Amino acid sequence: MTLSTTRQAAAPEILDRCRELVRPALVESVRRLHPWHAETAAFSLGWSGVDGSPVPGSQGKGVRQALAVLGAEAAGGSGLDGVTGAVAVELVHTFSLIHDDIMDGDETRRRRPTVWKAYGTGPAVLAGDALFALAVRTLTEVPAPTGPAAVRRLSGALGDLVHGQAQDLLFESRPWTGPEAVLPHEYRAMAAQKTGSLLGCSAALGAVLAGAPAATADALDRAGRHLGVAFQAVDDLLGIWGDPQLTGKPVHSDLRRLKKTFPVLAALASDHPAARRLEAVLTGPGPLDEAGLHRAAGLVDEAGGRRATVTEARDHLRTARACLDGVDLAEGARGDLLTLIPFLVDRTG
Ligand code: IPE
Ligand code: MG
Ligand code: MG
Repeated sequence: MTLSTTRQAAAPEILDRCRELVRPALVESVRRLHPWHAETAAFSLGWSGVDGSPVPGSQGKGVRQALAVLGAEAAGGSGLDGVTGAVAVELVHTFSLIHDDIMDGDETRRRRPTVWKAYGTGPAVLAGDALFALAVRTLTEVPAPTGPAAVRRLSGALGDLVHGQAQDLLFESRPWTGPEAVLPHEYRAMAAQKTGSLLGCSAALGAVLAGAPAATADALDRAGRHLGVAFQAVDDLLGIWGDPQLTGKPVHSDLRRLKKTFPVLAALASDHPAARRLEAVLTGPGPLDEAGLHRAAGLVDEAGGRRATVTEARDHLRTARACLDGVDLAEGARGDLLTLIPFLVDRTG
């Protein structure tokens, strides 16, 4: 029997440690923006309110920056080796959320108005563009050979992310049923791209910047992509049954916009009688009112869509873990990754 003398840190501690490590470089990076964009970025990152004053408790979880730090540590480097990658992915994530909220027409995020609601659509688009440009610039400043390898990974992930976003938007105009209906494997491909690509890239970038071989970075990338599908499936669940006080986002906005989320697709694919009643509600004339949305959510649950989504998330979680098996990773960081991965899927907010 072996007695461990080091305690495995809990997921919130891991996220806090990584956030603290990255924060000075992220602050420094945001300072390079045009002051107008820096103000918008500070708002979006949860550092300040619309009037520029500090607002405690409105930051994101910092998942992507943590994955970059842990990727570097997993590759045998120090967490600091991953900081430039962490800054880049956090800037990309912030940009993608600002633009996503415009595309999805969402007015609330993290219990605050979204950037386009607070500052206007034009300024929000531009602030997103500025963050995107800054992210790329940040990595191009890393010397060869790791810098160019890191830029290649980030640009690949960016391409996948916008591809996934395109699929997500195109799915909105596809019917719920019939030969044109969105199939579960199409959903998985979309989620792996829109959400998984950046999660995978985050961990892989950390590893690349710490000098890891491509095979190690590839394994971390694959794990992140599966984590992304699990994360997105849970995001879909929270979009229907989450507590807006905890998620900071409104409920039913996906259903209202006819988003092809996993719980609804899974419910419609079931042979439970509630599936046909759900189909009738969703394909009825005109947009769903509050009562219709509520009824649809109940039928998704009754037809097994909620349960199937939890199973889907668990399956991808298991595959994400399996991607790390058989790869040579520093044990402490492997432990932190294995703690973080399920925490991101078992979340309520
Ligand atoms: C956002 O996906 C994905 C990207 C920003 C690339 P969603 O639209 O499903 O995420 P939320 O629910 O708005 O956070
Ligand atoms: Mg959205
Ligand atoms: Mg979206």
